[in-house]
Amino acid sequence: MHNPRDPLARFGAVRRDPVVYQIYPRSFQDSDGDGVGDLRGVRDRLGHLAELGVDAIWLSPIYPSPMADFGYDVSDYRNVDPVFGSLAELDELIREAHGLGLGVLLDIVPCHTSIEHPWFREHPDWYIWRDRPNNWSTAFGGSAWTRLGDRYYLHSFYPEQPDLDWRNPEVVAAMQDVFRFWLDRGVDGFRIDAIDRLLKDPELRDDPPAAEPFGLPLRADEARLALTNSRNAPDMGEALGAIRAAAGDALLIGEVYLPAARWGPYLQHFDAAFAFELLQAPWEAGALRRAIEESTRLPGAAWVMSNHDFGRLGTRFGEANARAAAMLLLTLPGPAFLYQGDEIGQLDGPPGESGLDRAGRDRYRHPVQWDASPSGGFTTGTPWLPPVDPERRNVEAQRGDPASMLAFVRELIRLRHGLGDGLELLDAEPGLLAYRRGEHVIVINVTEEPRPLPAEAGDVVLATHEADGLPPHAGVVTA
Ligand code: GLC
Repeated sequence: MHNPRDPLARFGAVRRDPVVYQIYPRSFQDSDGDGVGDLRGVRDRLGHLAELGVDAIWLSPIYPSPMADFGYDVSDYRNVDPVFGSLAELDELIREAHGLGLGVLLDIVPCHTSIEHPWFREHPDWYIWRDRPNNWSTAFGGSAWTRLGDRYYLHSFYPEQPDLDWRNPEVVAAMQDVFRFWLDRGVDGFRIDAIDRLLKDPELRDDPPAAEPFGLPLRADEARLALTNSRNAPDMGEALGAIRAAAGDALLIGEVYLPAARWGPYLQHFDAAFAFELLQAPWEAGALRRAIEESTRLPGAAWVMSNHDFGRLGTRFGEANARAAAMLLLTLPGPAFLYQGDEIGQLDGPPGESGLDRAGRDRYRHPVQWDASPSGGFTTGTPWLPPVDPERRNVEAQRGDPASMLAFVRELIRLRHGLGDGLELLDAEPGLLAYRRGEHVIVINVTEEPRPLPAEAGDVVLATHEADGLPPHAGVVTA
């Protein structure tokens, strides 16, 4: 069994509580004027990330793809889509990132391929078929089965993303080769997509009616079912073990859409799982505290409060709470994932404007705003999605401003690496979230009213706001 104690042993900069910066390559930086971000653009901006002090980058998928799900529909696991660059460009990016002490994580999508992956034609038996649909639905709603000829194939996501059959040893071997291929190129770890969907009931039986709540938000139609057959099969450990066997000691972080209490098999093989209880918690002291408590019963939580599927800190928790939310994210123990643009407090775009992603997630994916120009410095061409408000917030303006969100996040990251071991949740008055990390006490005022600092707090070493005590929406790190 893998030893999860030193997950970052392979990183250039070994740090205890790493900050992993999520790059959504399409929207990070365009270098060739086609309006879509690319790997060259990432290389050009590595200096920003080194300055910010993050420990690693995670690249959302960069593989060849018809882009039905913007890269989460992979048609070749061992190459780079021309829109993003080339393999040589990725090699160079890995080399330069390592030179700056930044680890590199790729996004592996093992549950499904693109329907245009040659495997779908050449090896139909690597996929999951049924004569008639059962009652399983996709993550986006609607039946998870699409008819092709006289049979139906399974897709847990879009119909363009047929599910692989991980009970077929040839599939396991082919995907193990994919992990080895990238490790040989110097990658340090992987974010593993939708991993709770990897293995299903071998007989593909209907999901029975739900007997108890799932523990995380679901669509109303999903919540009526127990979801015990369509995902998270009891023998999941075997498939996860095969991934670990191929990945050696690389960092493996699983996107496991399950409450932390059910992470057991995943953490036997992976280093960490995204704590969806915190990501889904409303900005209320009690709910945040419960989510942290649940997710820290055992070590292995990877913290994430914003990403390309759920939206940004400043929109999800409200602009007034963006700094406090960043403080929470970046003072919890274990890997923390910071979504590109959140370091300058970017907001989501308007809902329903572009309709490129059928699940309505475009608004979370607008480009990073590097400067105040209309294109935000993202591209010299026409951006695939327009920047939201580059004149109001951008990296260039914030870089020279010690009162900016960027300066605040940089300071948080610097402080993070000096926080003590473990985490002790403190009993604070209603509306305050307070916890101890060694010598430090962190207090966040989740209410709309000012609050006094609790007795446990020491001297303020970093604050979201310049004021005494705890104004509304404020947070402090004290020592
Ligand atoms: C993950 C990704 C999401 C994608 C889905 C299917 O949840 O984060 O963007 O649509 O998997 O691959």
